[in-house]
Amino acid sequence: MGFPTFVCLLLALLTSFLPATASFPGTPFRTEGRWIVDTSGQNVTYTGVNWPGAADTGLPEGLQYSSVQEIVSKVKDAGFNIIRLTFAVQVIDEIYERHGEDVPISTAFSQALGAENGSAILNKVLSNNPAMSESTTRLEVFDAVAEECNRQGIYVHLDNHISKAEWCCSFVDGNTWFGDEYFSVANWTRALTYMTRHASNWPSFVSIGLRNELRFPLNNAPVLATYNWAVWYDNMIAAADAVYKTNPEILIFFSGLNSDLSLNPIPTGDDLGFGRRFDKNRYADKAVLELHKYDNNDISCALLKAFEYSSGYDALDDSNVFVKNHMPVVHTEFGYAQTNGSDDGGAQTVYARCIREFLIEQKAGWMVWVLAGSYYIRQGTQDNDESYGILSHDWSGYRNETVFDLGVGGMIRAARRWG
Ligand SMILES: *[C@@H]1O[C@H](CO)[C@@H](O)[C@H](O)[C@H]1NC(C)=O
Ligand SMILES: *[C@@H]1O[C@H](CO)[C@@H](O)[C@H](O)[C@H]1NC(C)=O
Ligand SMILES: *[C@@H]1O[C@H](CO)[C@@H](O)[C@H](O)[C@H]1NC(C)=O
Ligand SMILES: *[C@@H]1O[C@H](CO)[C@@H](O)[C@H](O)[C@H]1NC(C)=O
Ligand SMILES: *[C@@H]1O[C@H](CO)[C@@H](O)[C@H](O)[C@H]1NC(C)=O
Repeated sequence: MGFPTFVCLLLALLTSFLPATASFPGTPFRTEGRWIVDTSGQNVTYTGVNWPGAADTGLPEGLQYSSVQEIVSKVKDAGFNIIRLTFAVQVIDEIYERHGEDVPISTAFSQALGAENGSAILNKVLSNNPAMSESTTRLEVFDAVAEECNRQGIYVHLDNHISKAEWCCSFVDGNTWFGDEYFSVANWTRALTYMTRHASNWPSFVSIGLRNELRFPLNNAPVLATYNWAVWYDNMIAAADAVYKTNPEILIFFSGLNSDLSLNPIPTGDDLGFGRRFDKNRYADKAVLELHKYDNNDISCALLKAFEYSSGYDALDDSNVFVKNHMPVVHTEFGYAQTNGSDDGGAQTVYARCIREFLIEQKAGWMVWVLAGSYYIRQGTQDNDESYGILSHDWSGYRNETVFDLGVGGMIRAARRWG
């Protein structure tokens, strides 16, 4: 054995004892009735946070302020066990347009932020993340995030957030529904397949969300005419089949209608049109439902809980004999301002208090919106502040630790009691 080989072996041995490099002995996950379980059959409750990567640059946010490693450390220290990493279909379209070659981050930043600001931001990203260079590509940045998650024991859930890379989700943005201006079904399915195959190299990759917040195409009459559950079924099943064929080990998340407020005919296996009925068993033990809800001037916990139950959370209720698809439901988005000068903070609004109570009562998983303290650019404004951000504008610490602790921190501690 030559010296270099010996050193390599020694290093391999040493690093194999570092907990940080431990990958995921519990994966792949599967469903067992309403629970998500690991390979040893233990409950895994998603207690996660959204890390947006689907806006104009097509890149995970925050790297002009911090390193991938520091950001993942903050996720870890807060007690989260998973990130919902969002991506745009456009990123994959551009890889195909360039005959398989991904766009370098220098181009991504200058296209999204203009030449001058793009290059200033790029320089900050590179100084925070010295392993990157201007020729690093977009998906190499996603790889770096996944690899750091792997190192620190954080799971990765990918989410197709939008088609055209930009802030999501209005009713007139051309990304609303199958066939809308920017929402080509063929490109979408191709991107899901591409990203599933790509991410299958990440030990931390456990699940994928097919599409974020399907909604009314209010400015597109012909497409609006196709807004129904039968069309939902045909497109979602075709996409899920493609993902399942590409990687039968990951969990597949199905979102609903009305900006993912509604999955009501799915748990009960209702006829969605001409005999189409959702059957979770099509994907063995890999299908999961996802719902969203934000503050809609909620006035009581009883009403909020009744709304959530009838929107799809009945899938968790083993005692409900009308439910055909008993399966996990994960709240992949909810959130509220993390800054609040009053006594208790946004965490004590009726909405925040009730959704917290509901998810704890249900022993259900969730991913809060949002980690980002600010965005490279949002709706045309650069360095846009995010009041819902767990992190401060410059991603250096909590926006308000009291508000975090009262709300999301309490939910993390509660979830640790059952898995
Ligand atoms: C998962 O949690 C539920 C509720 O606490 C419990 O009934 C069930 O036994 C748990 N499953 C495992 C494998 O621990
Ligand atoms: C460039 O960045 C500065 C500082 O964030 C900002 O004020 C300015 O509007 C940006 N330029 C463009 C073209 O958005
Ligand atoms: C689909 O992707 C192709 C590149 O392969 C691109 O030219 C086209 O504009 C995309 N379609 C939509 C609706 O974005
Ligand atoms: C954090 O939020 C709490 C609760 O609203 C508030 O009392 C406190 O002043 C806030 N802290 C800062 C630094 O803003
Ligand atoms: C701040 O908290 C109070 C309750 O303590 C609530 O009434 C108000 O809506 C909150 N504001 C925001 C922006 O969350």
